[in-house]
Amino acid sequence: MFTYKMPTELFVGRGSSKQTGEKLKGLGGTRVILITDNGVLQAGILSGIEESIKSAELPYVIFHEVEPEPTIQGVEAATRMLKEFSADIVLGIGGGSSMDTAKAVAAMAVNEGKIFDYVGFGLVKKQPLPIVAVPTTAGTGSEATFWSVLADKTNDIKASVGGWNIMPVLAIVDPELTLSLPPRVTAATGMDALCHAMESYVAKSTQPISEGMSIRAMEMIARSLRRAVNRGDDIEAREDMLVGSLVAALAFNVTRLGLSHALAIPFGAHFHIPHGVINAILLPWVMEYNLPAATEKYITIAKIFGENVDGLAPCDGAKKAVDAVKKLLSDIGLTEGLKDWKVTEGDLEKIAKEGILSGNVAVNPRLAGVKDLVEISRRALNGLK
Ligand SMILES: [Fe+2]
Repeated sequence: MFTYKMPTELFVGRGSSKQTGEKLKGLGGTRVILITDNGVLQAGILSGIEESIKSAELPYVIFHEVEPEPTIQGVEAATRMLKEFSADIVLGIGGGSSMDTAKAVAAMAVNEGKIFDYVGFGLVKKQPLPIVAVPTTAGTGSEATFWSVLADKTNDIKASVGGWNIMPVLAIVDPELTLSLPPRVTAATGMDALCHAMESYVAKSTQPISEGMSIRAMEMIARSLRRAVNRGDDIEAREDMLVGSLVAALAFNVTRLGLSHALAIPFGAHFHIPHGVINAILLPWVMEYNLPAATEKYITIAKIFGENVDGLAPCDGAKKAVDAVKKLLSDIGLTEGLKDWKVTEGDLEKIAKEGILSGNVAVNPRLAGVKDLVEISRRALNGLK
């Protein structure tokens, strides 16, 4: 038995963000809070969107202090701004940080207490304000997921608030907004998207609908990530990456992920490694660990990456998928290891004990314990250099 549900309307295409204002109005919004970060603000990405909001004659305020790792403190500050301005619709523009903040702010506009009172799934009771999400990176897929991942900067704790009712009512997915992303951000966020597609595909919880989406997302990312990183103005590559990351999110939202994401949260919280980078560091070693449990699937992945598996024993064919991801990482300049982020062997047990508590462990194709997570992380210490 399985269900597939997707309550977010997806409006996709080059230039689509120029219709943001009328879309907000169509959803019944009369006063808008735009939530973003300083990078997006300074990159000039917002001009077309702001113009459209002005032509729709909607008053708006901008909260632009979202941090790279979004915090509950940021959520509180933005919620105060929302209430002072009496906004009735929340527009999150940016990477996962801004969109996750927007989800939390929309929830806290109408619910009591603090956002971390709602850690878990389905605990946000009162219907949040409508959320419109506009991604400017091709990675997290947060525009179409029901998670808001937040950190408490006072104690390095990272936790997720989830629920169907914090999903955006509308995602506006415009590849033109990603044209100015620097190569390293393109590489890291692109690897996050690839990791989503792949972890969902091999997960125990996979189902025919999500599986089809995972395969399509991997195809788009495999053919376009190198180009998007090394030739940033290539709109076709950018479009593949942005739509690929969206499609990957449509897959993993219903399946959850795997061991890379189980470990990515504690490594991110304690060592402040960007989410895409930590997934890129871990993915080849998680794949290697999972090979015996999902051999056929890794053979399919190898083929998606153009590897020749003809005449090979299944286990050798599956290993080609790991080789393909290592080659990709090398071509996009992400060869670092955990040591480059000051992680030592002595840190691994603590991280593994936190990682094992993630809901992503249960759906990983191969059963894993704390020792396995330590071993995977140990292999990732040196990276691929
Ligand atoms: Fe992710």
